[in-house]
Amino acid sequence: MSFTIAIDGPAAAGKGTISRAVSEHYGFAHLDTGLLYRAVGAKMLDGVAPVDAAQNLQPEDLARTDLRGPEIAQAASKVAVIGEVRLALVDFQRAFARRVGGAVLDGRDIGTVICPRADAKLFVTASAEVRAKRRFMELAAKGLADSLDEVLADVKARDDRDINRAESPLKPADDAVLIDTSELSIEAAIAAAIAAIEARR
Ligand code: DC
Repeated sequence: MSFTIAIDGPAAAGKGTISRAVSEHYGFAHLDTGLLYRAVGAKMLDGVAPVDAAQNLQPEDLARTDLRGPEIAQAASKVAVIGEVRLALVDFQRAFARRVGGAVLDGRDIGTVICPRADAKLFVTASAEVRAKRRFMELAAKGLADSLDEVLADVKARDDRDINRAESPLKPADDAVLIDTSELSIEAAIAAAIAAIEARR
């Protein structure tokens, strides 16, 4: 049996944490689709043309340890506006979504474009200020922090690019359940996600 859960939303809204918790709760496989765009963005920074990078992505490209940094996040958001890059990544994501045993995919366009018929769809969001603060704390813990103002500017730049691009822009699917995590603890956000998914099972 396959059961597909689509979790979309802007950067640092809590999608990753919720997706990992949901996949563990149900014993489903999890794909962080942002990692695909980050791997392509990293290759672009290495001098590879983004479309070539997307069409020839290898498992070891996804295993790079530097993919979480802020520079690669911006590069990911830049390559993600290119239609041919997105197209090159579609089949892999759809095949993952159909896995027997269930799958959780998180990203920007999972519920709208990659898996429009997903069994459950969540759109996880939070205010830009709250998201910037969370991202700042994460980066600070890794010794990668800029100032909070710079992180907020980065979050807003990425939101702007992700929301306003022509191809597969970031937006909630009509049938997605919205979860605003601005005022929620991690535990409460995970509980809200599981309750929304249970309503579809
Ligand atoms: O989720 P993330 O922060 O790792 O994503 C990095 C960038 O990749 C994001 O700013 C836009 C792009 N992305 C996308 O366009 N579509 C997805 N499904 C996932 C990520």
